[in-house]
Amino acid sequence: MTTEKEIYALGETPPLGYIPPKMHASLIRPERFGEPNQAFEVEQIDVPKPGPRQVLVWVMAAGVNYNNVWAALGTPVNVIGARQRRGAEEDFHIGGSDASGIVWAAGEEVENVKVGDRVVLSCGMWDENAEDILAGGDPMTSSSAKIWGYEENWGSFSQFALVDHYQCFPKPPNLTWEASAAYMLVGATAYRQLMGWPPHIVNPGDPVLIWGGTGGLGSMAIQIVKANGGIPIAVVSSPDKFEFCYQIGAKGVINRKDFDHWGRLPDIGDADAFGEWMQGARAFGQAFWEQLGERKAPKIVFEHPGESTIPTSIFLVDNNGMVVICAGTTGYNADVDLRYLWMRQKRFQGSHFANTEQCNAFNQMVIDGEVDPALSQVFPLENVGDAHQLMYENQHPAGNMSILVNATEEGHIDIDL
Ligand SMILES: NC(=O)c1ccc[n+]([C@@H]2O[C@H](COP(=O)([O-])OP(=O)(O)OC[C@H]3O[C@@H](n4cnc5c(N)ncnc54)[C@H](OP(=O)(O)O)[C@@H]3O)[C@@H](O)[C@H]2O)c1
Repeated sequence: MTTEKEIYALGETPPLGYIPPKMHASLIRPERFGEPNQAFEVEQIDVPKPGPRQVLVWVMAAGVNYNNVWAALGTPVNVIGARQRRGAEEDFHIGGSDASGIVWAAGEEVENVKVGDRVVLSCGMWDENAEDILAGGDPMTSSSAKIWGYEENWGSFSQFALVDHYQCFPKPPNLTWEASAAYMLVGATAYRQLMGWPPHIVNPGDPVLIWGGTGGLGSMAIQIVKANGGIPIAVVSSPDKFEFCYQIGAKGVINRKDFDHWGRLPDIGDADAFGEWMQGARAFGQAFWEQLGERKAPKIVFEHPGESTIPTSIFLVDNNGMVVICAGTTGYNADVDLRYLWMRQKRFQGSHFANTEQCNAFNQMVIDGEVDPALSQVFPLENVGDAHQLMYENQHPAGNMSILVNATEEGHIDIDL
């Protein structure tokens, strides 16, 4: 029988529902902004209390995402400063926008979960009383929408995480804590990109081009396209990444290092430079046809690198097709040759995380075994910074990484309480 203590070591479990005053958490502080491997440090801090419609979760494992590379760097947004300008008092950031864990306390008016429920968490947060939501708008397009564990504090690199009630979804019963923590952010984002913008959704037989096939988003996108009957063609940066893409369902894989026309579009008035760019783009298109096995353009291009790939994505996508983008990892100044956009009536669609229905639909695909979380590597809480450093340097293994928090050993699907 565990006793009530001031703070619990990782691996110790308090009595279900007992909230100790203090917890261990991996924090970013402004004075540590910089390379991820020096930005995070485990400290002891006060446990937050759940208010109305909030849930306190005992975090078993947390997922690693690119957003906390940005949080560690302190750029393009200083997330701590931005929150303080909105009235927050904390001078630290607890990252972690994915988690699996156990509901430990629920505030007033929480009806969808109860203490003891095994859950996974989503990172979409919004004000349920915002005017644009009450008017029927998609909450992820609300001016109140924020990403928990990035724009909002009390993320999952911590023994306890604080979320709104609608962020809780059932944990897949047969998956380990660490696999369950690995998929929701990237998976639900990919799901909205591919299935959330009708009529441009994946239909049987649709070819889809997926950048970064071994990345967090890409590994989910390949599986979602395949499960919906589409034909995923992935792009990666070296042949040793091909096999992973094939194993999760890609029909073909292209090595982007075989081409060198990346980056901003040359001035269209500069015939030589533009002609050279066009040659590169056409050769890439040829490679796409070869991988697909027929001369068809992608109906959807799944984008996130941004500046370096957008000109090619817009050129390549089919007439009346869609380039759907959720990030600009390589830069934000993306050039579009507008002639392709209007003459061929292509759609260039922004997309950001996912709403509750989309999270539910994607979570069900994981529960049903249609999508595997593609867990690659697991780290202890004190190595959160190292996991993000690998990601920052694009040296991380194919798939998704997790952090063991209160689960201190891999391989467990539940815990006796
Ligand atoms: N808005 C949202 O809701 C949302 C949600 C999730 C993620 N994101 C953002 O999306 C981006 C990717 O996230 P992720 O989790 O998939 O990251 P990730 O696991 O690091 O994967 C990104 C992939 O991009 C590829 N890549 C890197 N440089 C590239 C380049 N110059 N050209 C083409 N591809 C390149 C890499 O593959 P190769 O080197 O093999 O090509 C890498 O595997 C990040 O900026 C993240 O913050 C946004």
